[in-house]
Amino acid sequence: MRPFHALLLLLAAAPIEAAFSWANVVTGGGGGFIPSIVFHPKTQGVAYARADIGGLYKLNSDDSWTPITDGITQDATWHNWGADALALDPQNSDVVYAALGMYTNSWDPNNGCIAKSTNQGSTWTFSNLTFKVGGNMPGRGTGERLAVDPANSNIIYFGARSGHGLWRSTDGGATFSNVTSFTNTGSYRQTPSDTSGYGSDIMGLLFVTFDSTSSTINGATSRIFVGVADNITASVYESTDAGTTWKPLAGQPAAFFPHKCRLQSTEKALYLTYSNGIGPYDGTSGSVWRYDLTTSAWKDITPVSGSNLYFGFGGIGVDMLKPGYLVVAALNSWWPNAQIYRSNNSGSTWTPIWEWSSYPAMNNYYSLSTPNAPWIVPGFWDVTNDEDLGWMIESLEIDPFDSNHWLYGTGLTVMGGHDLTNWDTIHNVSLSTLAKGIEEMAVTTLVSVPGGSELLVAVGDDSGFTYLSSSSLGTPPSTNWLNPGFTTSTDVDYAGLAVADVVRSGNSAGTQQLAVSSNGGGTWSIDYGASTSEYGGTLAYSASGDTVVWSTASQGVLRSQYTGSFASVTGLPATAIIASDKQNDNYFYGGYASTFYVSSNNGQTFAAGGTLSGATQVNDVIVHPKIAGEVYVSTNAGIYLSTNFGSSFTLLTSALTNVYHIALGVGSGSTWNLYAFGTGSAGNKLYGSADNGNTWTDIQGTQGFGSIAGCSLAGSGNVAGQVYVGTNGRGVFYAQGTITGSSSGGSTTTSSSVSTHASSSTTSRASSSTITTTPTTLKTSTHSSTASSSTSTATCTASHYSQCGGLTYTGCTQCATGYTCVFSNSYYSQCL
Ligand SMILES: *[C@@H]1O[C@H](CO)[C@@H](O)[C@H](O)[C@H]1NC(C)=O
Ligand SMILES: *[C@@H]1O[C@H](CO)[C@@H](O)[C@H](O)[C@H]1NC(C)=O
Ligand SMILES: *[C@@H]1O[C@H](CO)[C@@H](O)[C@H](O)[C@H]1NC(C)=O
Ligand SMILES: *[C@@H]1O[C@H](CO)[C@@H](O)[C@H](O)[C@H]1NC(C)=O
Ligand SMILES: *[C@@H]1O[C@H](CO)[C@@H](O)[C@H](O)[C@H]1NC(C)=O
Repeated sequence: MRPFHALLLLLAAAPIEAAFSWANVVTGGGGGFIPSIVFHPKTQGVAYARADIGGLYKLNSDDSWTPITDGITQDATWHNWGADALALDPQNSDVVYAALGMYTNSWDPNNGCIAKSTNQGSTWTFSNLTFKVGGNMPGRGTGERLAVDPANSNIIYFGARSGHGLWRSTDGGATFSNVTSFTNTGSYRQTPSDTSGYGSDIMGLLFVTFDSTSSTINGATSRIFVGVADNITASVYESTDAGTTWKPLAGQPAAFFPHKCRLQSTEKALYLTYSNGIGPYDGTSGSVWRYDLTTSAWKDITPVSGSNLYFGFGGIGVDMLKPGYLVVAALNSWWPNAQIYRSNNSGSTWTPIWEWSSYPAMNNYYSLSTPNAPWIVPGFWDVTNDEDLGWMIESLEIDPFDSNHWLYGTGLTVMGGHDLTNWDTIHNVSLSTLAKGIEEMAVTTLVSVPGGSELLVAVGDDSGFTYLSSSSLGTPPSTNWLNPGFTTSTDVDYAGLAVADVVRSGNSAGTQQLAVSSNGGGTWSIDYGASTSEYGGTLAYSASGDTVVWSTASQGVLRSQYTGSFASVTGLPATAIIASDKQNDNYFYGGYASTFYVSSNNGQTFAAGGTLSGATQVNDVIVHPKIAGEVYVSTNAGIYLSTNFGSSFTLLTSALTNVYHIALGVGSGSTWNLYAFGTGSAGNKLYGSADNGNTWTDIQGTQGFGSIAGCSLAGSGNVAGQVYVGTNGRGVFYAQGTITGSSSGGSTTTSSSVSTHASSSTTSRASSSTITTTPTTLKTSTHSSTASSSTSTATCTASHYSQCGGLTYTGCTQCATGYTCVFSNSYYSQCL
């Protein structure tokens, strides 16, 4: 039996000291939006990318990326994974700046900061701002709104959102102060009616671009350009006196919002892209302009016109070695494909990367490959046969030291190649996904099946992934979950006595959103017991695999046996947490508010089980995979254990409080390890116990997981001491080690080494959690679209495009008639 062998082997090899070193489970394809990539202008081979909810990455010489902000995203500082801007010091390639913060509305309680690293991201210092920064807000692909003076490393500008205007540091980023002479702080709001504050916040400033060819005044670059989200008065402003006074550029295009402003210093020209939307999903018209810095002449160089112009423009790549050579991208051309144009004459003429030959036939002047993430072929490129070039292309860059090397960020991945100049000769370039090392999925659920699939990963936007064995965790899967493919998967579970049987749920109304597999998640088929109005939420598969209980986001808690149609269970509140006994087919469990529920008739009816004395909030319910009737319940007051099918509970531990997800995994001996996210002696972290909750060890170390309330968790069912953490924006981490602990009942903090790339934070960590609203049901509020929280104001309806769910969200959770609440990430579901 596999678990037994693995266990013996690891017992022999395991070190005495705990050593948890965290690494990503590999998908190899990013999996989310890359708003920006920045090359260092003076040092070859130095480049960084930012993700909207997954922090910063540094480019390696083999085209892979290394995450550099994992060490600064502990629970209290989860919002540091939101990167709204990135800047490099032209005079020192070791220096990186980033504007960090996730949301400018109430979902993110903390003000933002400008983070600085002087060692390419190994360690960081922070300059706290007096306002918020919105790395995951509308307009996050414009920019960069942060820039370092090319003539003076002490001078940094930051263009703020929310009407806070322009900010400047003159001490190398230690402090920032308001440039009050810059008075147009922007008034445009993407969705003024959005009461959540997400769409209705002022977009503010969009970019800061220095003219490195201009003279200096007291050591500061004299000529500076700043973009503003203003399509009424003027959007591009200039200072010629090193930021003392500002005026709008004369003759500038009146309509649209500028997204990018790039200097070609040899040409002494700016290239600007415009869209009629602020991005990143929108844009139905736009333009591209060249501004001559010598003559102050504007020239419209938009590549297309008329009915061919049905999109705005996003990324623009300017070749620094070959003046006049450019590439520019349509921000979103959803059909028939993204569009990219190339010019070799400063934008006077352009050629496209594809064109119609004889409709519907197309000439594609490119080849595509994705060896780093083969699942993108069946999961995306083959699905509709369009959009294979991407969407949300806000960043399109040519390596300043290599005219053939280009990269662009999309809503899914990073694309690029090493033969761009082939466009100019044979008009055909080779594109690949080049996101190896970037793991930015929003994970909803993790399951490791004892004796079955090592890891099942349900994710937002990319469906999910199966890793059949531990040895496959470092290999990108050949497919994501397909046939049926759900855009967002909300849960996955297995049958304890038939471990190859797996069930998963999706989150879209209108099609059946339940799929079953009988080969451990290798292949799937639709569960025809599901109707098209049931979706989202969480699942519990009975031990024998005959029954599915589904705590839906839409229809309350339902049950189906033998793939019959689903009907409501009795006695369990809507959105309850659910679990199945893994050894006894008759038993299911539930949790809601402070009550634990049991069903002993195969999920037909539920009744209150044993009391959880002292607890007011059930956050998770798990079962021992091998022992019938052994149930663990995590609560605000600690973890409770029942060994009699939930009839009665004892408080297993109160050394941890505010416990969120918990998991059991194979340990070094016969006792399974217990893992828990909660508040213990080392703070709000991931703890492990090898003695069934008697002692706890901090096994997280300095690895950041973001908000612990938003993390999913699994212990390996097969590999001793292996544990998985699913994050909201940094994919899945895993580590393997031996838990040591004192026998005193307190937790030890000896623990964990960290992965090689982890950086040590120089900021002090706030002791209190930033998660201010404890979700009623962690699973449903984390995962489901109709996420209700305890403070939810029940019966109101959210309008089209408004928020309707999310971890810290407290507003309306019902959508107006005709719209469905669609999960976007743990913090945001939207009426669409
Ligand atoms: C910064 O200055 C601008 C322009 O004077 C002003 O509108 C804005 O309110 C200021 N922001 C803060 C946070 O003081
Ligand atoms: C500014 O842009 C918004 C969004 O595209 C649009 O609704 C509005 O009409 C524009 N205003 C002007 C004056 O063009
Ligand atoms: C560009 O090259 C690819 C790969 O060789 C080829 O499949 C494609 O047909 C070429 N495009 C055109 C328009 O010839
Ligand atoms: C510039 O591009 C045009 C296509 O628009 C092409 O015909 C021409 O050969 C190119 N010139 C050079 C020098 O590459
Ligand atoms: C900056 O803010 C963070 C959290 O937002 C806090 O932990 C830290 O103490 C602050 N630093 C200073 C110097 O105020």
